[in-house]
Amino acid sequence: MSGVNITSVLQETRKFPPAKEFSATAHVKSEAEYDELWWKAKDDPTGFWGSMSQNLDWFEPFDTVLEGEMPNTKWFVGGRLNASYNCVDRHLKTWRKNKAAIIWEGEPGDTRVLTYQDLHRETCKFANVLKSLGVQSGDRVTIYMPLVPEIIVAMLACARIGAVHSIIFGGFSADAVAERNNDAQAKVVITADGGWRRGKEVELKHAVDESLEKSHTVQQVVVLRRTGTPITMVPGRDHWWHDLMAEASPECEPASLDSEHPLFILYTSGSTGKPKGVLHTTAGYTLGTMMTSKWVFDLNDTDTYWCTADVGWITGHSYVCYGPLANGATVMMYEGAPNWPHDGRFWEIIEKYKVTIFYTAPTAIRSFIRWGDEWPNKHDLTSLRLLGSVGEPINPEAWMWYHKVIGGERCPIVDTWWQTETGSIMISPLPGATTTKPGSCTRPLPGVVPDIVTKEGESLPDNAGGLLVMRQPWPSMLRTLYNDHERFLKTYFSEIPGCYFAGDGARRDEDGCYWVMGRVDDVLNVSGHRLSTMEVESALVSHPLVAEAAVVGFPHEIKGEGICCFVSLTTGEGDDALKQQLKDHVRKQIGALASPDMIRFSNALPKTRSGKIMRRLLRDIAAGRERVQDTTTLEDYGVLAKLRASEE
Ligand code: WTA
Repeated sequence: MSGVNITSVLQETRKFPPAKEFSATAHVKSEAEYDELWWKAKDDPTGFWGSMSQNLDWFEPFDTVLEGEMPNTKWFVGGRLNASYNCVDRHLKTWRKNKAAIIWEGEPGDTRVLTYQDLHRETCKFANVLKSLGVQSGDRVTIYMPLVPEIIVAMLACARIGAVHSIIFGGFSADAVAERNNDAQAKVVITADGGWRRGKEVELKHAVDESLEKSHTVQQVVVLRRTGTPITMVPGRDHWWHDLMAEASPECEPASLDSEHPLFILYTSGSTGKPKGVLHTTAGYTLGTMMTSKWVFDLNDTDTYWCTADVGWITGHSYVCYGPLANGATVMMYEGAPNWPHDGRFWEIIEKYKVTIFYTAPTAIRSFIRWGDEWPNKHDLTSLRLLGSVGEPINPEAWMWYHKVIGGERCPIVDTWWQTETGSIMISPLPGATTTKPGSCTRPLPGVVPDIVTKEGESLPDNAGGLLVMRQPWPSMLRTLYNDHERFLKTYFSEIPGCYFAGDGARRDEDGCYWVMGRVDDVLNVSGHRLSTMEVESALVSHPLVAEAAVVGFPHEIKGEGICCFVSLTTGEGDDALKQQLKDHVRKQIGALASPDMIRFSNALPKTRSGKIMRRLLRDIAAGRERVQDTTTLEDYGVLAKLRASEE
């Protein structure tokens, strides 16, 4: 952790109380109702979660709500259930049987609707396909697919038989897929020939072929035909989705799984080393995502709910798939880019399907602002009743634009703070209850007990910046890092004694509202996606011409944070061609999402006398700030001037 150096400079006084009409029909209707829920959960967590657990369907009741203390907790001990049953089967016994579960639009404009009954049939068939490929309960299955309904089918099919899915976002490279396959020891990979993004094909199967040269645990590959591009099918290893599905029975009993049975692994970046395999389990995660979807998005049966996240990220896991489906909601999915074939595609979709709830990321909102109001203004957005934001702090001006131009000053905005590790939303307004403030994720959800503390773990008073921690366990928290419990303990529970800490700085104001200020470790937040400076550095250093690299974030108008790489070479001077080569090299190693925005060559990097790279200084230089922080420990002052001169 690079020191706690947090002074909040944001002065924001605008307040937006919930509209009476909204509150009247909301699940949580007033501040008083919220307070009652929150205090109940705080004072009697096991009583509270015990009663909430009745929102799930259980095959066997549990004996104990919570066993153990943070960090080693077990929830709903002894209970048995199935996540796919809770997301699909139980709705078939109600009028929701023929309700749309998924309304999907592909980037080229093709559309599909799957009712809950359809989703059940497809899930059962694919669960049988997995069994026929030898997948057993506990086996890991990699999913590397475009945003098509089959990605949900694949997830739920894994959950149905107790296999553990590990989804890798389609923007990651072959090398990144290989690394994750190896770490998870995946047995099967589910992919597609490709997917559509901004009119171009993302060639997923080619990447899988390349990754399998480096990952040897994978025995079978299932390939969905999406784009129709020619690909190579390896006999005995590769199978077409449609061939296997044609043979599969539509009956598959859901496995009766222990509450703590692993549901999925999702890899995320940490400040050091290789990606971390965050592991979530069945009961706590399903309950957490279900309840938060209901509270925060105020889901009703009449809603058409659209979360724009890719299913490859936690937001897609929790709020495209498990949370909304457990509530029996209608989920909108769109495969492609927001600016294809024109900058108004999202608004066109909202108008066409009469979307009522729209959940996206600040980086997208900043792009919309740049593309111009004329795009949303061309469309009727009056179906919208609620807006959401996730992934990074939303700047108040972007919030106000979202409120005015998209929400017509009518829709509450829920700014939701949470993490891959927390599984579900932790701090967020409840739209019928909470007065919102632009830039604040406001108050903790029921069952969430945050605090702002010093490095020593002492609570700070209101309005003092410090570290954001959780003082009590919650059902959807990660249980471990796959195959690395030591790292789990060290990363989240060793910095601040007795608390969960995952790297953000924040303050709490006099109304109890939280203002998250961003990461305090070496994690970048690029377009709402977490990347570690370390991973980008390792990628750079693996290039034969690079001797040393230091990577820092700098403020970026659209992405929130851009990636700036300071590179010293083994020989010679750098030029533009080499810059391009290094950018391509990082893309190949990690994926397009890690592509550097700036590369600056320098024959030395600023170091302390003990040899540590002084990132604070590099951050100032990358941001073009003249003010330079304390340099008393710097070993060679000359380096600074040279770095400043090394502009991109
Ligand atoms: C940041 C995404 C401010 C934060 C769900 C966190 C946010 C990291 C917000 C987790 C928000 C997410 N306001 N910051 N509303 N939401 N963050 O694991 O730094 O991809 O630690 O989970 O994103 O990113 P992750």
